[in-house]
Amino acid sequence: MRLVLFLTFGCALGALSIGAGSALAAGDVRAGAQGFRACAACHTLESGRHLTGPSLAHLWGRKAGTMESFSRYSPALKSADIVWNDETLDAWLADPKAFVPGNFMTFRGVKDARARADLIAFLKAAGGDGSTGQTAQGNMMGGGMKGGPQSQNLKALESTQQVTAIRYCRDTYRVTTTAGELPPFWERNLRFKTDSSETGPARGRPAIMPAGMMGDRASVIFADPVEIGEFIQKKC
Ligand code: HEC
Repeated sequence: MRLVLFLTFGCALGALSIGAGSALAAGDVRAGAQGFRACAACHTLESGRHLTGPSLAHLWGRKAGTMESFSRYSPALKSADIVWNDETLDAWLADPKAFVPGNFMTFRGVKDARARADLIAFLKAAGGDGSTGQTAQGNMMGGGMKGGPQSQNLKALESTQQVTAIRYCRDTYRVTTTAGELPPFWERNLRFKTDSSETGPARGRPAIMPAGMMGDRASVIFADPVEIGEFIQKKC
């Protein structure tokens, strides 16, 4: 399966370089897959699945800032009048701030032209041209990005992560899960978030996720912001 996919991409890449036309040398898809790790915290290649940034599936030929299902585009990108192709992507990735002043992508860019060409080749092979991005991304990256915190289904967590109650007293939160009470959290170390997507938690059953390296911080993720106030009991 994997071999077949690589062969397919190999051929696509071959066709690309023969097709010339582009001023850029065709990049290395495998190296580009490594490079995409810098993007994966904010972008998927799955159609319609947005993180901090919009999904990068079906990118080629799309006008910048126009995917209706993504609600956080900057006015700058929306009005930039750019169509994504090898050249515009190269300019954007080289220096996003200079290419579209005032955009909301907090990313410095990729200074190395070779690395950009590799990334562009990967984006194209992995669904940027309209093919099935999800499969390609999973295969190209050895599935490594799928296990990321952003893609976990919060309805299917272990009992130690399903929150049943949160008590607040003075500067301390006490969190109870289906498996029992956790060590107390200093109030500045517990964050409250929401995830209203399909993979978010069930209503009334927020999820607690460890944060940071020391074990003293965590995030509680609710299905809806109105739940936050209802759920937390002020009680000593
Ligand atoms: C820290 C988060 C973050 C990182 C890292 C990041 N991006 Fe983005 N990206 C965004 C956001 C947010 C936007 C929307 C920008 C706007 O509307 O101004 C965006 C927009 C884009 C767009 C335009 C999409 C469209 O629908 O028009 C492309 C293409 C893109 N990013 C590619 C990349 C690539 C490739 C990388 C890695 C080399 C990357 N980004 C790294 C957050 C990020």
